[in-house]
Amino acid sequence: MKIDGQAAIVTGGASGLGEATARELARLGARVAVLDVNVEQAEKVAAEINGVACQCDITSTPSVTAALARATAAHGPARILMNIAGIGSAKRIVGKDGNAAPLEDFARVINVNLIGSYNISRLFAAECVKLPLLEDGERGVMMFTASVAAFDGQVGQQAYSASKGGLTAMTLPMARDLAQHAIRVCTIAPGLFATPLMKQLPEAVQASLAASIPFPPRLGKPEEFAQLACHVVTNNHLNGEVIRLDGALRMAPR
Ligand SMILES: NC(=O)c1ccc[n+]([C@@H]2O[C@H](COP(=O)([O-])OP(=O)(O)OC[C@H]3O[C@@H](n4cnc5c(N)ncnc54)[C@H](O)[C@@H]3O)[C@@H](O)[C@H]2O)c1
Repeated sequence: MKIDGQAAIVTGGASGLGEATARELARLGARVAVLDVNVEQAEKVAAEINGVACQCDITSTPSVTAALARATAAHGPARILMNIAGIGSAKRIVGKDGNAAPLEDFARVINVNLIGSYNISRLFAAECVKLPLLEDGERGVMMFTASVAAFDGQVGQQAYSASKGGLTAMTLPMARDLAQHAIRVCTIAPGLFATPLMKQLPEAVQASLAASIPFPPRLGKPEEFAQLACHVVTNNHLNGEVIRLDGALRMAPR
């Protein structure tokens, strides 16, 4: 699909990988709706790319419905959905104090990363199937953001890995569901990227993480993620696939 002239939705667009993707889509000519729980930051990003900011909690159906309506009112119906919003977590199943991990922590991560992404995708897809086909024969594209933790989760990453593994596992069945509607679905599984979250870590920790990446031995740049996310949109034959973007990184147990 040609990005130029399309309306696009980016969840988590206020920060990090989502922000970089929103900026790249806009640079390539899309009208971008920046959806995020952090509406102040979303407004800053949207203002700089001539987009629209929409307050949105992807886990809440009324919130997603309202955000999609606001985006459509501003830009017309979207054909591109970039699912990038997500949260992290680190909790051992049995803590150092000998107590079982709180179930609420596990449920919260699954709820945002997996159920939230599914929630907006189903609502987006239901609108997208109503749109006419484009000249290239397709109707829409959805992208999910997993993590290499879906495959090599580290100590304490059960919830995060399970949430991201859920995204990788649902990519193919969703692509198969939506094939009849000419909507493609792909997932990117990033390695370690230099987003605000990562930049909060001490420099020595960042350097040691970077050194664990075979090549290039540095953290990924958010723009590199954005580049691949946009490639997923423009390459009509990419479908039902999970793409690692990690400099050949395979995470150690800890
Ligand atoms: N940075 C990395 O190294 C890395 C590696 C692998 C995967 N990822 C994944 O990439 C995505 C983006 O990560 P990032 O590093 O840019 O993080 P980030 O914290 O900079 O950005 C995430 C954004 O999602 C938003 N968000 C959180 N919960 C939300 C909700 N319920 N509804 C709407 N918005 C919500 C946050 O407000 C924030 O703006 C996440 O899904 C993360 O798991 C990141």
